[in-house]
Amino acid sequence: MKLTSEDQDMLDGKYGKATQKSMEILTILGEIFEAEDMIDVVGVQIAGVSYDNLGEAGLEFLSEMAEDGKVRVLTTLNPAGMDRENWRALGIDEEFAKNQNRALDAFAKMGIITTCSCTPYLIGNTPHYGQHLAWAESSAVCYANSVIGARSNREGGPSALASALTGITPRYGYHLDKNRQGEVLIKVNAPVKGTDEFGVLGKIIGDKLVKLGKKIPYITGIPSASIEELKSFCASVATYGGTALFHMERITPEFDTYPKPSDIVFDINQSDLDKARAELIDDHLEIDFVSIGCPHASIHEIATIAKLLKGKKVKKEFWITTARPTKRIADEVGYSKIIEMAGAKFAADTCCVVAPIKGRFKGIMVDSAKACYYGRAKNKFKVKIGKIEECVEEATK
Ligand code: F3S
Repeated sequence: MKLTSEDQDMLDGKYGKATQKSMEILTILGEIFEAEDMIDVVGVQIAGVSYDNLGEAGLEFLSEMAEDGKVRVLTTLNPAGMDRENWRALGIDEEFAKNQNRALDAFAKMGIITTCSCTPYLIGNTPHYGQHLAWAESSAVCYANSVIGARSNREGGPSALASALTGITPRYGYHLDKNRQGEVLIKVNAPVKGTDEFGVLGKIIGDKLVKLGKKIPYITGIPSASIEELKSFCASVATYGGTALFHMERITPEFDTYPKPSDIVFDINQSDLDKARAELIDDHLEIDFVSIGCPHASIHEIATIAKLLKGKKVKKEFWITTARPTKRIADEVGYSKIIEMAGAKFAADTCCVVAPIKGRFKGIMVDSAKACYYGRAKNKFKVKIGKIEECVEEATK
């Protein structure tokens, strides 16, 4: 790989041990993927933040890097295992909280913003079209690449941290034009509306792409999509298909940058949507937990929940998972008061997947296909997908 003199100085240890270790990680990665050189990144998003994922080994690595490491670019964190302020109300035990805070303190020592959210693009870590990133949250990477037209590979926790401490990443994969072209044409022949339906669509496409060898989809037949619908779609297609980039005709910015694919074509009809939705609803379901905000809820979604909950009382555990800055806006405008008076709980900094709640509930209702996947796989819950309105209705009945 061609390294600049600054890259070489970092690798030689001129800027300390953590920077040197980071350069070692990045040059190995670059050599594996045959990158020609490194490129500057404008932002980093680090995942694997929950103490549940990190464990003592991960914490030890972080502490070592925090001894002399300092970030060179804006860096934010994915959801942690708990709400930093409200963890007791969410039933998180003291020991877990202590360990989670040790990890967050190590991130903070390196200059990382410890607002923990999977929607960095909604809270200021917001790239522009064409800018390069090193992000490590699959839903956010898919959103940045596809909806914004920025450029990021799906980083792992250590490589994202290495980019944060150096400000660079190897130039390969989605950073290059030649790897961004649509490869499979997907025609959607049915109306798709709401975060739940966009999640169902993401599952269908993701499942197909796994069979086709993870190709980049080019989707037609969607006349419009909100930010919330797109973030739900990104989370789902990234979870079920490992997809980091798609194009959607007249919706995403690069839809006409490259030729439209025509070799592989498949249709999605209403019957496919109905079948996939049925697969996200388990039999013999007893719902005792409702959660909205996967990916983290926007202020629009919180406004909707407040409107639906006004004057009502929830009868089940109900979490709204969101970024803390979004929660602060909800506080200011009065949405939080309405939601909390109804008995629902905000879970900022965390979510129903990364919080240590395995086995605590029998069945979860969500509006997110990604939360269904991990609710089953990680937390062993039975699951049901539904619209936000249906989720609120379930929580209050
Ligand atoms: Fe975000 Fe947790 Fe869903 S990290 S995308 S809310 S699983």
